Amino acid sequence: MDKFVIEGGRPLRGEVRCSGSKNSALPILAATLLCDGECVIRGVPRLRDVDTLLAILGELGAETRREENGDIVTRVVDLEPVTARYELVSTMRASFCVLGPLVGRRRRARVSLPGGCVIGIRPVDLHIRGLRALGADVRIDAGYIVAEAPRLRGTEIYLGGQFGSTVTGTGNVLMAAVLAEGRTVIDNVACEPEVQDLARFLVATGARIEGIGTHRLVVDGVKTLHGVEWTVIPDRIEAGTFLLAGAITRGAVTVTGCLTEHVSSLLATLREIGVRVESAPTQCRVEAGAGFRPLHVTTLPYPGFPTDLQAQMMALLCLGDGISVVTERIYPDRFMHVAELNRMGADIRKEGSTALIHGVDALSGAKVMASDLRASAALVIAGLAAGGETEVQRVYHIDRGYDRIVEKLTGLGACMERVDDKKLVASATDSEG
Ligand code: EPZ
Repeated sequence: MDKFVIEGGRPLRGEVRCSGSKNSALPILAATLLCDGECVIRGVPRLRDVDTLLAILGELGAETRREENGDIVTRVVDLEPVTARYELVSTMRASFCVLGPLVGRRRRARVSLPGGCVIGIRPVDLHIRGLRALGADVRIDAGYIVAEAPRLRGTEIYLGGQFGSTVTGTGNVLMAAVLAEGRTVIDNVACEPEVQDLARFLVATGARIEGIGTHRLVVDGVKTLHGVEWTVIPDRIEAGTFLLAGAITRGAVTVTGCLTEHVSSLLATLREIGVRVESAPTQCRVEAGAGFRPLHVTTLPYPGFPTDLQAQMMALLCLGDGISVVTERIYPDRFMHVAELNRMGADIRKEGSTALIHGVDALSGAKVMASDLRASAALVIAGLAAGGETEVQRVYHIDRGYDRIVEKLTGLGACMERVDDKKLVASATDSEG
């Protein structure tokens, strides 16, 4: 199993290009199950999670291939299979987003429940509520969601829960509603850029959806959807991670090929702590000097500060000039990185869904363990800023969501390498995503 060995303390400098969004590509690839004919999806990052989803699509009767230029071509050739197996779904939660397309087009689905994961319990009650409202009979059988819907009828659905809207839940319900009879109004939908990208993809295939980007989607069902060529949006979380890597190392980094409007909460936060930020519509640059002012930051649904950048932001605040407070409103237990950052000399105390961070002058390199995708990214950027050597173990987590991260960071001047560490043994199932 691979680990990263990082020699920290070098300011990152230069330009790095953003890849396509993982969390856009996965539901859009799942949505190709709804289409007659060939879909060509461009800008799909080369990630383990994408490979997992392609394996699931293959078992669900889709032919898929990756072209040399990276495009993914899909075509459904068999509408019979309806089962997404535990063995695959349990390795990646996002594979649950095949549920909506299966119910929508095949009117039957048997999809393994993804279960909890290291960032929290992560229920799927809202997905089920939405599908039931459309007329599907949904039950749980032997760890699987079994849904049957001889007819799907448009209706009004409220998709809010204890923690607000749901990103993949919105996607699942939307993907079922586009082929339902009549009009469906879905209220309190997530309006993350990835949800908008999925909705726009569906419109390009012939779906009728209004209200994209708002909290209410109005869907008028159609009978069929056709194949289409689509380019996924840039990955705002990857872009944010590189900007934070530039800032934490007190360097100067420009991220190109991103959509600045998608990272506006991060840019505002960076400005507030004293990082110099320049932005144009598709690129942003950060330059950080000596200190970081302390800050209170709370994760919220888009356009609030994203939970997927919380760990990386916390790494930066470890080097702040006072006491910072980070509150996690999406996943109250998403703090696995705290103990590892403390092993690097940080001073973080967790109280419920809040972390109090006493800024320290420096972090020191250590052996640390990645627990999930974004926590791993936080440890990597902490390692880049720390004095001495950091070993980040279990980097298979990071391979799920960051396309060629070592190449991109070394391109900015980072001193790090991937090392095969045969002594490490894989942990049990990991399924965040
Ligand atoms: C998506 O997960 C992302 N994954 C996550 O990114 C991201 O952290 C999350 O949205 C929030 O932005 C993908 O897009 C593949 P949610 P998702 O349903 O859709 C609760 C990463 O690192 N909830 O929007 O699973 C839930 O427990 C990953 O790339 C219910 O209560 O998240 C959470 O508290 C990790 N009932 C909140 O809603 C439900 O039925 C938001 O979760 C569904 C969710």
